[in-house]
Amino acid sequence: MKKVLFINGPNLNLLGTREPEIYGNRTLADIDKALVEQGNALGLEVETYQSNHEGAIVDKIQVAARGCHGLVINPAAYTHTSIAIRDALLVLDIPVIEVHLSNIHKREPFRHQSMLSDVVTGKIIGLGPYGYTLALAAVDHLISEP
Ligand code: DQA
Repeated sequence: MKKVLFINGPNLNLLGTREPEIYGNRTLADIDKALVEQGNALGLEVETYQSNHEGAIVDKIQVAARGCHGLVINPAAYTHTSIAIRDALLVLDIPVIEVHLSNIHKREPFRHQSMLSDVVTGKIIGLGPYGYTLALAAVDHLISEP
C-alpha cells in the first residue's frame, strides 16, 4: 500500500485552542483522524507526525525519503526560516505539498516568504484544515498510475 506522510511543525499541536480566529477550532487529532479515514477510502496508508523541533522534522523527512510515496508538510514558523528543512526536501524525489491553514500573504510581512515554495511540488494555503484534505487528494492524483 502506498504511504503518505503528513508533517506538522511547531505549535500546531495546539490547534483548537491556539488563536482560533486564525487557525479554527479543530484539533490536530481531529484533522489527523479525518486524514487517516480519507486515506483508507483512497487505499493509501496515512502517517501523521508533529514536532516542535526543527531537527526532528529534518530526521522525519529523511525517513520519508526511504519509504513514503508522498509528503504533505506544514512547517509552521519554520516555513519562513528553515534552510535545513528546505535542504531535506531537496533530497526527496516524491511529490511534496506545502500546506498552510492561514493565508500567509494576508498576514505580517515576515510570513510572506516561504523557504520552501520553490522546492515543493505544489502549495495550498488559506483554506483551513480543508487544505490537508485537498493535499491528500493531490498526492493521490500525482502518485496514481496514468
Ligand atoms: C502556518 C503559518 C505560519 O506563519 C505560522 O507560523 C504557523 C502556521 C499556517 O498553517 O497558517 O504556525 O503555517
